[in-house]
Amino acid sequence: MSSAHITFDTTGDKIARRVRKMRSSAVRDLFAAATRDDVISLSGGMPAVSLLPVEDVRAATLAAVESPEARAVSLQYGPTNGAPGLRAVLADMMRDLGIRVKPDQILVTTGAQEALSLIAEAFIDPGDIIITEGPTYLGALQAFSAFEPDVRAIPFDDEGMRMDLLEEELKRIGKGNPRLKYCYVIPNFQNPGGVTMVAERRRRLLELAREYDFMVVEDDPYGRLRYDGGHQVPLKAMDENVIYLGTISKMLGPGLRTGWIAAPESVLARINLVKQGADLCGSSFDQIIVEHYFKDIPWQKTLQKFVAVYKERRDTMLAALEEFFPPEATWTHPEGGMFLWITLPDYMDTDSMLAEALEAGVTYVPGNSFFPDGKTGRNSMRVNFSFETPESITEAIRRLAKVIEDRLELYRVFIEAGALPGYDRKEAAMTDEKTPTPWEEVVADSEQNEEAVMQAREGNAEQIDIAEEAVRDAQQAAAPAEEAAE
Ligand SMILES: Cc1ncc(COP(=O)(O)O)c(C=O)c1O
Repeated sequence: MSSAHITFDTTGDKIARRVRKMRSSAVRDLFAAATRDDVISLSGGMPAVSLLPVEDVRAATLAAVESPEARAVSLQYGPTNGAPGLRAVLADMMRDLGIRVKPDQILVTTGAQEALSLIAEAFIDPGDIIITEGPTYLGALQAFSAFEPDVRAIPFDDEGMRMDLLEEELKRIGKGNPRLKYCYVIPNFQNPGGVTMVAERRRRLLELAREYDFMVVEDDPYGRLRYDGGHQVPLKAMDENVIYLGTISKMLGPGLRTGWIAAPESVLARINLVKQGADLCGSSFDQIIVEHYFKDIPWQKTLQKFVAVYKERRDTMLAALEEFFPPEATWTHPEGGMFLWITLPDYMDTDSMLAEALEAGVTYVPGNSFFPDGKTGRNSMRVNFSFETPESITEAIRRLAKVIEDRLELYRVFIEAGALPGYDRKEAAMTDEKTPTPWEEVVADSEQNEEAVMQAREGNAEQIDIAEEAVRDAQQAAAPAEEAAE
């Protein structure tokens, strides 16, 4: 007979306060589910590494191990700021984006993710203010949260972060506020929104940065994955003080954990100190492979292949959304990158709907994961189009549409009966231009609505009928009084 084995967590009360507050990334949590055979994953941000020519990968890898000289470098500790050869290659590559930096103004990191964490560690004390787009990259929120910042999320529209709302927020924060540290933006094909910041707003952001004295962190993992439209000048090319983050994850492969920070030397000196404490140096082995790949191999050819494949997948997703999604849904039309952002009516909750989606064999990332409060954006979701084949994308969107449609149907019953708390159908129909509802209200309403729908689900159709009838009776009883009032 086997004996039950119970483990008590004896470390619970010893965990640091800041770690207790940290949330696990929804994408990481979905990783296991997403690899199930019967599930089509629209949740990750994974590049299609199967497109990489095996010969190129082999040649770059061999370069790191073939000769004793190469092994003496690739298997050894390296400098904290990264292999000098790689830094020179990265400085060269940035030139065609219009960015001019010297190799000494680059620090190689273990992916751009480490850069986000190092920057926060170097600059953030508890309560310091970071401005981000809202929604923003959830890995950034995770990295920042360890240092207990006060994150202010500024909404975007089709042209990127709303500068009018940023300015309003800056006025609230006040000029010369020592707590205001930096603004973190993803100007190209934003994750999760898919939107790109237009030139005028880029200029305005830099003006505001000078006026209100904050640093700008420009995260650009997707800049070279453009499918339509013209190249936008990076913030870093407009102002050398910008802290620019690059990564090879979306051009080569995230398995080679290699990213970089291009910043003024005074900034890098601080970050270098923090990195020494974190890992002494990044993987020399990865760095040598990456150096050879971008120096000796025609990588642009492979990049073009990525671009062609992703463009087709994006177009497939947009066409499937048009075909299958209900008219209540809207979505962004990214000119590049890997994601688009879907918005459903504000009474929907994509967080709780995820269980139904998984059951139907499709995953996405609920919108609230991308907001600092973990609540805002509950009626939205991020979907990825880079990883699955066009056939799977179409099927995934068809499945997702069905899940949404099933929920909407239930809500429609309530809306028709005028019984959906927090949602006035007549008022919604009357206002052509929808005034944005304050986020707190949307959150409160969607929580209430969710509960109503859950109760209905737990009951049966008969109970819904009874509820509807009760609502109708109440409306009829109220009608004469309303008429008299008119
Ligand atoms: C906006 C953004 N920044 C940073 C990263 C992290 O990239 P890396 O693989 O270089 O750590 C990602 C990954 O998806 C991302 O989307």
